[in-house]
Parts: sequence; C-alpha cells; structure tokens
Amino acid sequence: MKHHQPDSESWAPAQRYLEKLYASEDAALRAALARSRRAGLPSISVSPLGGRLLFLLAKAVSARRILEVGTLGGYSAIWLARALPPGGRLVTLELNPQHAAVARENIARAGLSRRAQVLTGPAIKLMREMVKSRLPLFDMIFIDADKDEYPDYLRLGYRLLRRGGLIVADNALRRAVDQRGPRAESRGRARDRTNGVLECNRLAAKHPGLVSLILPVLGKGVDGMLVGVKK
Ligand code: SAH
Ligand code: DHB
Ligand code: MG
Repeated sequence: MKHHQPDSESWAPAQRYLEKLYASEDAALRAALARSRRAGLPSISVSPLGGRLLFLLAKAVSARRILEVGTLGGYSAIWLARALPPGGRLVTLELNPQHAAVARENIARAGLSRRAQVLTGPAIKLMREMVKSRLPLFDMIFIDADKDEYPDYLRLGYRLLRRGGLIVADNALRRAVDQRGPRAESRGRARDRTNGVLECNRLAAKHPGLVSLILPVLGKGVDGMLVGVKK
C-alpha cells in the first residue's frame, strides 16, 4: 500500500479550530518568521500551538529564568520571553552565528532584547560551563537543537533545573514513531539505540527524578512535546 498521511489530514480541522482559539500569531511573530525565511533559515520553528504550549508551561511554573537549547530565528524564544515577568530572563543557545544574528534581530524587533539573550556556541559546551559556574537554576528548560544530542541536553538540563521546574523537548513523537513504522522494523534495534530522541524519551520516562509525559502537538502534522517536572 502507498504511504500517505491520513492522520495529519484528519487532524486538520482540529488544528484550525485550536489555532483560531489559542494561537493567533501577532505581527511580531509573523515578522520573525518572514525575516527568518528571507535570511534562508529552514522553516522548522515550533508551530503556533507549540509556541502557545511553551508560553502556557512557562506561566504554569511562574518561570523567571528560562534556558532554550536551539534558537534558530528566535520564534520560540519570543513565545518564551513573553511569558516572563518583569526582570525575568531567557538565555537561548545557538551554534550557528547566522541563525543567532537573525534571532537577535527578531528578538529586538519584538521588543524583548532586555529579557532574552542569545549565546552563540555548541550547546553541550555552554551547558557544561553553566553547570560549573553554579549560576542560579532555571525554572524551565526547552530543548530543540541537535536531535543526536538530546540525551546529553536532558542530563545537563536536569542539573540546571530547580525542583518543580520543567524540562521540555520538541519533536519527541514524530521521529520516535517514524522509526518504528512497518518499514523500520527490519532496520532493527541497533538504529533505535542511535536515535537521540528515542533515547531521551526513554531516559525521561524512567528517570527517578522526573515525572514526564509526551503531549501530542498539532503543527505540520502531529508531533509531540516531552514535558518533565523535576521532583
Ligand atoms: N527553537 C527554534 C527552532 C530550533 S531549530 C524555534 O522553534 O523557533 C534547531 C536549532 O538548533 C538550529 O538553529 C541549529 O543551528 C541549532 N543547533 C544545532 N546543533 C546545535 C548545537 N550543538 N548547539 C547549539 N545549537 C545547535
Ligand atoms: C524539524 C523540525 C523541528 O522542530 C526541529 O527542531 C528540527 C527539524 C523538521 O521538520 O525537519
Ligand atoms: Mg523542533
């Protein structure tokens, strides 16, 4: 049988409904996406509903300090920074200096420069430095960079997170189930082990210090956000 995506088609009305209710993008968010596209960045930001979920989760823990891993053009950073109270701070890590430059511009245009700081460099190195520097812990950590490095982001993120804080990871579902479709079976378990997203999901699910679940999120089709609370 030919592969198509009946699932994302049947979810389209639900997605339209939810976006209308909850995730209407304003001028700054739309401008951020347009500027990112013009700069040639890939269009792999979180969906509007994903952004809304990040905003909700940050509010739920009254986040004053948020760490993001993987900035791209700053779309999710804008959602997160907007959830902060006055004096709150978002630190967002980005390997690619061109992405970081676009993000800084988008964040400035959204009026959020005082609340959001883009650090350029490899995320694992920067997070290790943060662990060593004993800076105040974060209330929320959003992981969305190199999928192979997800297990390390989770381990380091856990150390940088306060009790009761949230660790969140994008793209937790689609890659996990794509690998497990009928065609993937013959590729076997060796491949599973090398899939950072699957490994991160397993780590979170069995982590004694976390209560976690993957929430489905509608965007371009269905994907998931891993959400974990530090006990
Ligand atoms: N969170 C963004 C999307 C991030 S896309 C949003 O929703 O708007 C992933 C980003 O992670 C890309 O910009 C990529 O350059 C960056 N990245 C990839 N590997 C990285 C690494 N090792 N350290 C830091 N950033 C990395
Ligand atoms: C893709 C989507 C993402 O949200 C991401 O972080 C990386 C890649 C994608 O659709 O390829
Ligand atoms: Mg993502």
